[in-house]
Amino acid sequence: MTRGAFIVIEGLDRSGKSTQAARLLERIEAASKSVQLLKFPDRSTPIGQLIDSYLRSRSDMDDHTIHLLFSANRWEISSKIKSLLESGTTIICDRYAFSGIAFSASKALIEESSPPSSSPLTYEWCRAPDVSLPAPDLTLFLDISPEQAARQREGYGEERYEKLEMQARVREVFARIGKEIGAEGWVTIDAGRSREEVEKDIWEKVSPLVEGVNGPVNALWN
Ligand code: TMP
Ligand code: MG
Repeated sequence: MTRGAFIVIEGLDRSGKSTQAARLLERIEAASKSVQLLKFPDRSTPIGQLIDSYLRSRSDMDDHTIHLLFSANRWEISSKIKSLLESGTTIICDRYAFSGIAFSASKALIEESSPPSSSPLTYEWCRAPDVSLPAPDLTLFLDISPEQAARQREGYGEERYEKLEMQARVREVFARIGKEIGAEGWVTIDAGRSREEVEKDIWEKVSPLVEGVNGPVNALWN
């Protein structure tokens, strides 16, 4: 028996993730396979609405608190992810726990972001709440420089984390995560090229998985 593949797309803000996720969805549907597109944060749930308000700077929150809400927003959908995969549906997921670590841990690296009295968010602390979530079978990291991301997408800077200094730190933390996950589970794609070129590379990596994956859904970082 095979199950559906769990494919995650990660990257900086404005790296083209949502566009590529939509194209990948179309391709898998065209192959007559069962597939579902998910996105984190999922802003539609009550927790997601708190996150949305924070990202639009309509509310402020302690760095630890918002980090835990992002994680809770994944846990509230985790059993759905597991049952979809087990029922043979492929999942494409636009951001996941790796964004959780990369963005929160970056704050500790930027001096003025937190008052001196608050304890810094370490990499390990940021990872802990997501341990045991369903593990992706493949993560595609769409790599682009913060400068290029800011240049080629409209509306840059509208949301809280869309600042060059922050995005540069985020990219560094993503690189660390990728090293830890290893080459079989984490593929870096040069997202500074045309949409078609990026799409072609993504399909090359994903198409073998679309036929199904053997074995149970793994637990992240267990
Ligand atoms: P989005 O632009 O993909 O909707 O994501 C919103 C922002 O939230 C983006 O800057 C990345 C950030 N983020 C976190 O800080 N932690 C998380 O766990 C996730 C999923 C996103
Ligand atoms: Mg964004």
